[in-house]
Amino acid sequence: QGELRGVVALDGPSGTGKSTVARRLAGSLRSGYLDTGAMYRAVTLAVLRTGGDPAAVAASARLELSTDPTNPTVRLDGVDVSTDIRGPEVTLAVSAVSAVPEVRQALVRQQRDLIASALRSIGGIVVEGRDIGTVVAPDAALKVYLTASPDARAQRRSRQDVAAGRTASVEETLADVQRRDRLDSTRAVSPLRQASDAVEVDTTELDLAGVLAELLAMVDKRGLRV
Ligand code: DC
Repeated sequence: QGELRGVVALDGPSGTGKSTVARRLAGSLRSGYLDTGAMYRAVTLAVLRTGGDPAAVAASARLELSTDPTNPTVRLDGVDVSTDIRGPEVTLAVSAVSAVPEVRQALVRQQRDLIASALRSIGGIVVEGRDIGTVVAPDAALKVYLTASPDARAQRRSRQDVAAGRTASVEETLADVQRRDRLDSTRAVSPLRQASDAVEVDTTELDLAGVLAELLAMVDKRGLRV
């Protein structure tokens, strides 16, 4: 029951339970936690609010991320935007903003800095996103690629939406999940794809406890808990 040493990269499309799994995994490993999607969402929020050019906004926006898995907040220019970045306007625009090369360059640099600082201070971090195993942390000690059937992902997404007080039909949510998959996996710069050395975990038939048990077993098999 020790602590994580090194980086666990968790990639995959939306609706696979990635965020919940990553946070819980970081909690049980007493490591840091980094939600890189939240960074793309925060830049998208800034673009929508200012109407500015995404490249310029990404260069000037000041992002502060807490890597504490019990309280993972995002601040944009000093203001906590953790709730605002989950709204439908941001969700609709984030794929376009995250396809801009300058946006990715700026955020990947910050992500590497956050990872390095977590490794120095607590020794380990779970990082979730789309390109962590392929681009951000290609040397990660463990790379996991989470998948699930489109139906299962749409079901999860709409349950999350209802819990957050938003309503959309499962059909609408499925269409949105598929639209974002298409945009995220066909963009020119760091598209969503599985790293060649990533372990694929299909969560369609697994609950949270089942996924966590599989990931903890992988961590232990690699001797990453000390
Ligand atoms: O995980 P999420 O749904 O909060 O991510 C929001 C968007 O950000 C997603 O549509 C794709 C993009 N993203 C990305 O391009 N690269 C990452 N490492 C994380 C997210």
